[in-house]
Amino acid sequence: MSLKKSLLLISLVLSLPCYSDDNVSSIDKMLAIKNSQVTLQTAIKAGKERALLCGYCHGKDGNSVKDTIPNLAQQNPEYLLKQFQLFASGERKNYVMEQLADILTEQERINIALYFSSQIVNSAAHEGLVDYSAEASAESLLEGQHRYQSFCFACHGESGEGNKDLPRLAGQKKAFLVKTLNGFKRGGGSRASSPMVKIMKAVNDAQIEPLARYISNMR
Ligand code: HEC
Ligand code: HEC
Repeated sequence: MSLKKSLLLISLVLSLPCYSDDNVSSIDKMLAIKNSQVTLQTAIKAGKERALLCGYCHGKDGNSVKDTIPNLAQQNPEYLLKQFQLFASGERKNYVMEQLADILTEQERINIALYFSSQIVNSAAHEGLVDYSAEASAESLLEGQHRYQSFCFACHGESGEGNKDLPRLAGQKKAFLVKTLNGFKRGGGSRASSPMVKIMKAVNDAQIEPLARYISNMR
């Protein structure tokens, strides 16, 4: 990595926003529940029941039913909690999600986050959907891999697993990734306060498709 790139990354990491007090206390409560198998299993069971409503769009097990709707399966529970909070405060905009986040109690948010994070994501690779045969797609996968592993890995992990409120990306839906990265690139729109807006300034439009292709195929 060049010095210029390393400095850019360090300054980006340092500029990440901190949790609000609300979110810190939710996360502490969630971690306390996770500490015991008994309370964890009870929370996951309650979360599964409450998440029936979400299944209509995100899939019962968090593998979404539509390519433009994100998978929630295997997502880091801290990230899920943070997004509920951003939807509830209107900082992240989506009509349905803002209404839903608003009606869920803190306990329900914690249970649902623990439930979805305990599910396994079916990445495109798992479903055998990767088309390595076409020259163009193999090339594009490599281009995406190169870009991801020289930059994005610093926050989202070499295997795309993320960490706490840094989201897991591996196996995410490709169309959702393309839509979301384009949105960040154009100034954030519905997610204007996201640190990704600044980060996407270092990515060209033409790199978005290969990045999304590579990420959706990570497992
Ligand atoms: C009518 C469809 C619909 C329903 C029902 C729905 N969602 Fe969503 N959800 C969406 C869409 C669309 C997005 C993506 C919004 C965007 O592009 O920013 C989303 C985004 C999210 C995100 C952010 C994920 C990410 O990777 O950034 C979370 C978390 C989430 N939903 C949780 C839930 C939960 C929990 C429920 C049930 C209580 C639920 N959703 C019900 C459509 C729905
Ligand atoms: C400095 C750390 C950092 C770097 C580097 C970084 N990200 Fe992110 N990324 C984040 C954070 C933090 C979030 C959560 C943002 C939010 O809450 O809106 C995020 C969110 C995302 C999301 C939305 C995920 C979802 O489920 O909604 C995508 C997609 C994404 N990043 C892709 C990338 C790609 C591709 C790169 C490399 C070009 C990259 N990120 C580099 C910190 C980073």
